[in-house]
Amino acid sequence: MNLKSIHVAPFYTPKKIESVKSLCNLLRLTQHKCGHHLEQPQPKKICENQSNLWTNQASAQKIICENLRNLWTPICAITTKKINTFVEHLNTIEMKVLMVCLGNICRSPMADGLLRKKVKEEGLSVEVDSAGTGDWHVGQAPDDRMRETGKQFGVPIDDLRGRQFETSDFDRFDRIYVMDQSNYKNVVALARNNDDRDKVELILNVSQPGKDLEVPDPYFGGDEGFKNVFKMLDEATDIIIDEIKTINGKS
Ligand code: 4NP
Repeated sequence: MNLKSIHVAPFYTPKKIESVKSLCNLLRLTQHKCGHHLEQPQPKKICENQSNLWTNQASAQKIICENLRNLWTPICAITTKKINTFVEHLNTIEMKVLMVCLGNICRSPMADGLLRKKVKEEGLSVEVDSAGTGDWHVGQAPDDRMRETGKQFGVPIDDLRGRQFETSDFDRFDRIYVMDQSNYKNVVALARNNDDRDKVELILNVSQPGKDLEVPDPYFGGDEGFKNVFKMLDEATDIIIDEIKTINGKS
């Protein structure tokens, strides 16, 4: 196998990027033994393309899994053991996903409920939560109309309670999905650095990459608006689940 150049795409969070960097250091330890050149991770380059981010993570993991186990076994048993431990770690990485809208009583709790349900059904290790950029509905249950729509489609969200987005959410979560441009602006305004900013994405860019479409606020409209929101979020959360399964090597 020719591994003259291995691209080890880094994982998203600083912690994960650090993990990949330590893997690269391990690989470099063996470099002089096998004479191959290993490329440095390029976190920023990967992060630029938000819609492909998780795909890149998944392919990085695939490259690591496929190549490393076999290649270095005869070269350095100790390093291989460390690499295997690292690969096991990658396979059990827990994702933390936050859904954000304005009031946290219509769109984001529905996105939260949908993803929670799918995570449970798939047996995945994912923490899911939701928040609003405004504080009007803190402590309240989701809007009756959104709850009713959720119930109709088998996704009850009665137990969720509103809370306001806070800066520490950037530390708690790997991905922050917002429903519209105004949510995006409000969340990004609280970002402390590029790592924080890079976690935020319009949720519909998951299902319709690069289009920057919004989940319309159904609060002042009729019942159709709530069904429409459900449909959009159902589709987006299906894709998020597929991405997480790929990252965790379960698809
Ligand atoms: P959400 O909808 O952002 O999807 O939860 C709204 C809920 C309440 C208000 C606005 C939007 N409000 O103005 O109270």
